[in-house]
Amino acid sequence: MQHKFTKLYPESGVELTPFISKHYDSLMNWGSFGRYHQFIEGAIKSLHIQPVQSILDLGCGTGRNASLMLPYLKNEGQLVGLDLSPIMMAAFKQKFKGEAHVAFVQQRIDQPFDLKQSFDIVFISFVIHGFPQEVRQVIIDNASRHLRKGGILAILDFAEFDMDTMPTLHRFVFRKIECPYAFDYIAHNWKALLQEKGFDHFTEKFYIKKYVRLLQAEKMSE
Ligand SMILES: C[S@@+](CC[C@H](N)C(=O)[O-])C[C@H]1O[C@@H](n2cnc3c(N)ncnc32)[C@H](O)[C@@H]1O
Repeated sequence: MQHKFTKLYPESGVELTPFISKHYDSLMNWGSFGRYHQFIEGAIKSLHIQPVQSILDLGCGTGRNASLMLPYLKNEGQLVGLDLSPIMMAAFKQKFKGEAHVAFVQQRIDQPFDLKQSFDIVFISFVIHGFPQEVRQVIIDNASRHLRKGGILAILDFAEFDMDTMPTLHRFVFRKIECPYAFDYIAHNWKALLQEKGFDHFTEKFYIKKYVRLLQAEKMSE
């Protein structure tokens, strides 16, 4: 039976319709004129994943990012993808059929949850911008709860920038394709916010004319 798709956050662009979920990877490929894969490969390389690490991918989608992380892990490493969408779950499970050290958990990330496990890396890519700020705080708390001391929170998402100073064409495209939550996300000081949450030792890498950033932050205490 088909269930009606309803958003919890009506203005969110990351709560994807079934159609977009089904075709998400292809849409990203087309929309980026084939450049998305190379970009994401570069960003994942910058995580410097070690063979025995454990990684939690929040809002993992089809598992495209996880499949690029997997070659860095040996059999002792572990990868857990987490998403709310049944369509993403099916794609993820299909992709990693038979991979003993890859698992999927169907779970909302905008509400507190506890997997009773600490990871070396919590990765979140193009998800956190799509929520109200108070919900982003819950997501950061969820990420922190699942990191060991010294573990890394890696946020791949929009950087901080001023829409008013963007070139007209860039502003037009950003406004057209992104949700209003993204306009708010770029206005926050994420390093300051993460510092308040017990993170430090930041590293940043910028992509796509500095509109996108991989921000990595170390969890400083238990
Ligand atoms: C824009 S896609 C990004 C997917 C993937 N991280 C990537 O970079 O390819 C957003 C993803 O977040 C998931 N998502 C949205 N809201 C969520 C929530 N509240 N809890 C868990 N996953 C969520 C969607 O199902 C979708 O897979």
